[in-house]
This record gives sequence, structure tokens and C-alpha cells, in this order.
Amino acid sequence: MSFAFDPYDARHFDDPQPAFRRLRDELPAYHNAERGFWVLSRFEDVWQALRDPGTFSSARGITILDEHNAAAPPMILTMDPPRHGVLRTKVNRGFTPRRIAGLESWIRDEATALLDRLEARGEGDLVSDFATPLPTAVFAELLGVPESERDAFRRWSDATCAMSPDPAAMAAGKQAIAELTSLFGELTEQRRSRPTDDLISALANAAASEGEEPMSESELTGFCVLLLVAGLETTASLIATGALRLAQHPDQRARLARDPRGIPNAVEEMVRYDSLIPGNARTLTRDIERHGQKLPAGDKILLLYAAANRDDREFPDGDRFDVGRAIDRHVAFGNGIHFCLGASLARLEARVAFEELLRRFPDHELATQCRWTQLVPTRSPVSLPIRLR
Ligand code: HEM
Repeated sequence: MSFAFDPYDARHFDDPQPAFRRLRDELPAYHNAERGFWVLSRFEDVWQALRDPGTFSSARGITILDEHNAAAPPMILTMDPPRHGVLRTKVNRGFTPRRIAGLESWIRDEATALLDRLEARGEGDLVSDFATPLPTAVFAELLGVPESERDAFRRWSDATCAMSPDPAAMAAGKQAIAELTSLFGELTEQRRSRPTDDLISALANAAASEGEEPMSESELTGFCVLLLVAGLETTASLIATGALRLAQHPDQRARLARDPRGIPNAVEEMVRYDSLIPGNARTLTRDIERHGQKLPAGDKILLLYAAANRDDREFPDGDRFDVGRAIDRHVAFGNGIHFCLGASLARLEARVAFEELLRRFPDHELATQCRWTQLVPTRSPVSLPIRLR
């Protein structure tokens, strides 16, 4: 039977795993001739590709859609060395472990307030009442987005994450990127003249204090847009998807509720199991050969993190969800020079979210089935009805 894989094909949204298995086992260097891109899906292939930015370039965008790539502002995610390294060093200075750790009690207060509201109603939707508002509030706080802009901020972030070949979704996404760029442009201008203690002020002024060129206006706004695109929907999806997996495995959920010390490892398993960014693309800078196929320079290649993270060659019984699994490495946060800058923040938010949810409502009832938004760039449950007891 003929097989075609396209990450924008809605048939893969609800359960992409059968296609991923077929790719890994039968077509480890898959070519979609119609759309003109390749796919790597085995763990070792994806791991190695991420360590070789000289061959697998990000500079022509990290989606297989040229129109999407062209709409993105300049940002580290779509840069190669040496420019990537210069800018990453600058943003690292604003993104210190101390700044992230300092957010914990604030995140806990926010999680508590959201759960209080849910408890008062007795039931709701875990996605829109807890998993999404938590990271939205964290980003708004981190970046210093004023209260009055927070609803718009959320809508723009939704629209950028929903960009696809569908013309209406593409147009809405482009418009949202433009609006976000303008909001962050205004905020950075204000913070340069009147710094506060938010991340934008730190970034705007960090490099200058080291005697280097400060980040330019477009670098700063591009970075803020990137944080949203890379970090908001993904963290929301991690919390929602993790809760879904625990509902599907009530024995494991009960174990975590009894002993929350297992939550950090459980979060790592959630990240591996559902790889909230299922795959990003690269452009080949030279001809390569994989699994007997010749892949020419200039072609796009999709690195399927979500398939790699279920590969039995790396993870024994990879399709089994096990919060006690010993995990040495995975690619859900990428690997190499583009390794996720926000991994520690995402882990912190998810840990606090599950500590609070399981401590207060160990017996909550949650849907165990759902529809999914899409596959790339970010995959998330559409909604998860919850009842608190
Ligand atoms: C569960 C949540 C998250 C997941 C699964 C995730 C995943 C990833 C992945 C796979 C990459 C590498 C992309 C590539 O090389 O193609 C990446 C990069 C990045 N992530 Fe995350 N991310 C998450 C949360 C966050 C958060 C909370 C932030 C920010 C606060 C963030 C900021 C970034 C940035 C800035 C990059 C680009 C780094 C670079 O190009 O050097 N991410 N993320």
C-alpha cells in the first residue's frame, strides 16, 4: 500500500504514532516528492543531525513552508553560527537560572489562584482554565506585558502557533506576528529609557554593561516573539498533555499524588512521550547520504522529534508511558546549539502545576480522550473537561 506523510495532513493530528512507526521502521530517510522535503525519524539520526548545524542549517527557516519561514522575524532559532552564538550569549545573560528559580513562588501563587477558581465552579476545562492561563501569565510577567494587553497577547500567540498552509490561518498568523512585533517594539523602547526588573529590561541593558554592542531593536523584538512561539503553547500543551496521560494511567497518577518527589521525573517522561514540538525542519547545505538514499544540498528536511522520542532502539518499549522510566537523553528540547533556552522554565512550571493539582485534587476526573489541534509546529489537546472532587 502506498504511504505518504505530510505533517499538515489532518489525518495524523489525533494519532500520529502509526505513521511515525512506519517511518522509523520502513522509511527512515523518507522523501515526500510532491511537497519536496525529507523526514528523519529514528532517534540516532535526529540526535546527530541536531549536532551538525553546518550541514543541517536553520538559517532558511525551521518549517517546511517557505511562506511561514519568510514571515518570521530574525531570531536565534533561525540563525546559524557564528551569528547564533553571539546572540545566544547575549540572551543567556538575561535568562539566568536565578531569574527562573525566582519565579517559583509567583508561579505557585498563580497556579493556586487558577485552581481556586476552578474549585469554586466544581468543573471546567483543564486546557483553557489551567494549562493555558498559567504559562500565559508567566510570560506576561516575565516580559512585563501590561495587564491591558494580556488578552490580545494571548490571541496573537494562538494565531502564530496555528500557522499552516491554510491561507486564512497563514494570514492570521502573519498579522499576529506583526502585532506582537509592534507591542514588543513599544515595550523595548520604554524599557531602554526606563528599565524595570523584567526580562526585556535585562536583555536591553545586559550586553551594554559587559561593554558590548547592546541588542538591536529588531533582535530584541524578534527574541520576544520567539519566546512566545517557542515557549507559551508548548508549556501549556505539556501541562494539558501530562494531565491527560496521568488520567489514562490512574495507578501512576495515584503514585505521584502519594509521593510528589516523583513529579520531576514524571515531567521528563511527559516531555519525551508527547514531544510538544513534534518536529522542526532544516535545510541541507551539502549532499548527504542516509539509509541508502542521496539527499541533495538545498532540500528541506524535517527532524521528527516526536517519532525519535518513541524509538524502541533508544527507549525500551518506547510507546509505554512510565513516570518512573530512567531517561538519559531525549530530543524533545532539541539538542546542540539550539537546545531549548526555556527548558528549565518549562520544567519548573509543569512541576509546580502538577504538585498543586495533585496535592489539592488527587481524585479529579479528567477526560481520557480528546481531539488534537494539529501536528506542527505545536501539538495540543483542544479541550479536556475536568471535574474536581
Ligand atoms: C514544554 C515546553 C517546551 C518545549 C517542548 C520546547 C522545545 C524546544 C525545542 C525542540 C527547541 C529546539 C528547536 C530546534 O532546534 O529546532 C527549542 C528551542 C528554544 N526554546 Fe523551547 N521548548 C519549550 C519551552 C520553552 C520555553 C518556556 C521557552 C522560553 C521561556 C523556550 C524558548 C526557546 C528558545 C529561545 C529556543 C531557541 C534556542 C536557540 O535557537 O538557540 N522554550 N525549544
